Order: sequence, then structure tokens, then C-alpha cells
Amino acid sequence: MDKDDWKLTEARIKKQVERKKENIIMKTITKISTILLSTTLLFGCASNTDDSIPVVGVAQIVSHTSLNTIRDSFSAQMEELGYIDGENIEINYADASNQQSNLNSIITQFEDDESDVIVAIATPTAQAAANAAETIPVVFSAVSDPVGSKLVSDPEHPDLNITGTSDEVQVDQILDLALQIDPSIKTIGFLYNAAETNSVSNLEKAKEYCEANNLELIEGTGKDMTELQSSAVSLCEKVDILFAPNDNTVASGMQSLSQIALDAKIPFYTGADSMVQDGGFATVGIDYEELGKETANMVDQILNGTPVSDIPVKVFKDNLNIYINQNALDTLGIQLSDDIKNNDRLIMVE
Ligand code: TRP
Repeated sequence: MDKDDWKLTEARIKKQVERKKENIIMKTITKISTILLSTTLLFGCASNTDDSIPVVGVAQIVSHTSLNTIRDSFSAQMEELGYIDGENIEINYADASNQQSNLNSIITQFEDDESDVIVAIATPTAQAAANAAETIPVVFSAVSDPVGSKLVSDPEHPDLNITGTSDEVQVDQILDLALQIDPSIKTIGFLYNAAETNSVSNLEKAKEYCEANNLELIEGTGKDMTELQSSAVSLCEKVDILFAPNDNTVASGMQSLSQIALDAKIPFYTGADSMVQDGGFATVGIDYEELGKETANMVDQILNGTPVSDIPVKVFKDNLNIYINQNALDTLGIQLSDDIKNNDRLIMVE
């Protein structure tokens, strides 16, 4: 090969390299535009472009037995009322995994979706959703203390474009049951997450009950499972019974927390039936399926044009059952009195 041939080959290689570069650039441009296009399409689908079908956003703070029951009975009742997801309604479900930042982005997404109604399951969810209520009606579900949580000032006449269902905890009846089962109880360990206003309200009720009944109340808090577990361990060394209200953080870790109590031979009273199903000892409480259904009925009313201010908050506090966990009863070696055994509202949880 002479010098000129080399030059020619060199020029050809250069050209090929250039062409390859051009090719890569072209391919990248095509890829980027495809991504851009599909993103636009995706967001286009997510937002409420089709004005003919209503959009409902359903958010829950965390996944635990009771909140899942509420969500599922809400969906079932929506179907019962004739709403078919994807056909004549769009229902978007989201779970915040007990993270405040997730909650805020879920609510923002529901606003971007131009939701017609936001359903907020549990207190922390409802408090996050309240920020959107200026433009979108909010229906909360299972908020223990809607007034104390600043969601309504008058439950009979909701004034903030927010209404819903409440699962007021019957602290007195739960602690009455505890004393009926064991009149020698002197100290109660109250386990909760202090960031949940629903639990703080119930702490106040428990304190009043203890004062009136000459009992001592010791608090144990935790914002996550690790903290709650160590609080539970140390409470169990000091108290006769444990009591957790319907606290979402406690409820989401009931399996391990109830084992700590069982190992220490401490009866663990709870604020909800689901927490007894998940290993707690006993409660007096409501049927959450009914509450989930009523949440759907309220959404239906709003979609049909009823103003939120005409839909009073519905408090579930009647038709209570006594729930006792059979396995915990056996492990603790507790004998139930005939009074309790013959109570026709007693449900033994296997
Ligand atoms: N009432 C709780 C709240 O206000 C939510 C809730 C419903 C709950 N069912 C429960 C919490 C069962 C614990 C266990 O946030």
C-alpha cells in the first residue's frame, strides 16, 4: 500500500466513524422523542381528560388488616351502587407506606388527576387530603376524632368541604372489659405513636378513665416498629395490661407486638377487632365493613350533586361486639366469667 492508499483508507474509516456517530445521535433522538411521546400519553391518560366519567382518588396511610377491610368494602359497595371501575368511573388507589412525604405526593397526584372526590382512609391521610379540600371534596374514612384532628368543627354541618365516617374508640368500654376480666388490674401500659392525633385523643380518654378508677397509666411511644417494640418490652415489665388504641403504626406491626406481650404473659387490649385478629387479646369495637360501605354511600351522594355541607359526619359507635382472641386466652390461661361467655355479642377470634 502506498501513502495515498493509506490516506484513502484513513478517510474512509473517518467517514464510517462519522456515520456511526450520526447514527447513534439519530437513534438517541428517536428514543427521546418516543419516551417524550409515551410520557405525554401516559399523563394524558392519568389526568381526567374524559369529562364524562368521574374520577375518585382513594388514599390510605398504610396497609393493615382494618384499613384493607375498609378499602375492600368501599370498593364492593361502589360496585353495588353501579360504579364499574374503568367503565363508568375511574378509581385510583394509593398506599403511603406510613410516610408523610408519600401522602403529600399522592394527594398532589389526585389533584393533578382532576379527581372529583378524594377518599382519605385514616386520620393522617385525611389531614394531608385537607389541603386539597379547597377545590376537591374530601370524604374521610375511619377518623377516630374528626373534631380533635381539625377536619370539621361541627360534625353535623361540615364546613370545610370535608365529611366522612368516624370510628370513635370506646375506651371506657374496653377498659371496663379489662377490669371485668381481672378486677385486680392496677397499671395500664398505653402504647401508641405520638404523631397520630387519633391516638393522642384516645390517650386523653384513657387518662380520664384511669383517674376515675384509681389506676396508673404509663405511656410507651414509638414512631416506627423498632421504637414501638422496645417501648412494648419495657412497658411489659411494669404493667398489668397493655392497651393500644386504634393506632395505625401499632396496628401495622401487631403480629410482632402481640408476641412481645404474650411472651411476657401480659393481656394486650386494643382499639380494633383487626388488632385482635392479628394477635391482640381483646377489644370492644365496631364492624369496619359497615364503615367502609357508608364511606362509598357518601361518595355516591357527592357524585350525585349533594353538597358536602349537607352530609353530616357519621360516627360508628353502636352495635359493638366483644372480640377475644382464643389463642391469647389459652396462652394467658385466663378464665372468662359466665357473664362474658354468655354475652351474645361475644366473638371468639380463632
Ligand atoms: N381510626 C384510625 C385513625 O383515625 C384508623 C383505623 C381504622 C385504625 N381502623 C383501624 C387504626 C384499626 C388501627 C386499627 O387513623
